[in-house]
Amino acid sequence: MPENAASAIVTVADHAAVRVITVNRPDKLNALNAATLDALHAAFDAADSDPGVRCVVLTGAGEKAFVAGADISEMNALTPVQGRDFSLRGQRLMRRIEKLGKPVIAMVNGFALGGGLELAMCCHLRIASDKAKVGQPEVNLGLIPGFGGTQRLLRLAGRAATLELCLVGAPVDAARALELGIVNRVVAAAELHEETMKLAGQLAASAPLALRGVIDCVNVGGECGIEEGLEYETAQFGLMFSTDDMREGTSAFLERRKPAFQGS
Ligand code: COA
Repeated sequence: MPENAASAIVTVADHAAVRVITVNRPDKLNALNAATLDALHAAFDAADSDPGVRCVVLTGAGEKAFVAGADISEMNALTPVQGRDFSLRGQRLMRRIEKLGKPVIAMVNGFALGGGLELAMCCHLRIASDKAKVGQPEVNLGLIPGFGGTQRLLRLAGRAATLELCLVGAPVDAARALELGIVNRVVAAAELHEETMKLAGQLAASAPLALRGVIDCVNVGGECGIEEGLEYETAQFGLMFSTDDMREGTSAFLERRKPAFQGS
């Protein structure tokens, strides 16, 4: 996919097999209005259907913010029915990302608040700059998280952290977010891009069907009992034996060479 116009609300750029999707409203700290949610959805659909894309990095434009939340000026005028629809629109996007069969890394380059943290949490991995701040401040607006924040934070960081972040509404810094398990890694702001792209490149060179298998198992396992989860894992494990990549990976190990995975 070619790079698109820098003026678009969501931009995409390819670096070999890594697609970088950027929310591009830096003057509004990349707040998510309905048009941005739709543009992101289209960008993830395109990343999914392009076989040349093996890993996605999601970030926000500018120095300050990943995404500072759902667009407050747009929400201010919504009716209850429109508010419900806005929540569904956001939740559909988050689910689309979470269920994408390719790894998605959130490169959290600054504020990830409200819908911004919700967006980061549906990604499979999160790398944060040491300058990032994350939180669910919706109560300060008389609101609650509406793009899955109460549910994903609960699953990611547990009940105590979820209740603290969502009830108090104060952001936490990157170091605390790491302690709480909300982000996977924290790196110096100056190294965020390089470190993220290094990890993305590593995932892009890995076996695509195995990565998809892991993502599916974790998604399914997070929602069911241990017996069903183990059964699902066994089925996925068995499926791997039908792939060329499994033969290639195991042969490469035995032949002491680097594997070349094709995604077949
Ligand atoms: N929705 C809409 N616009 C937003 C926004 C949001 N969630 N967050 C920031 N903006 C806009 C501001 O209105 C401002 O626009 P303007 O220049 O046209 O007035 C611009 O982005 C810059 O933000 P500003 O508040 O001036 O930056 P700051 O450095 O002083 O503060 C924050 C940064 C993140 C602390 C502050 O913007 C903030 O609290 N944002 C809202 C966070 C939030 O509640 N998110 C959850 C929404 S459900």
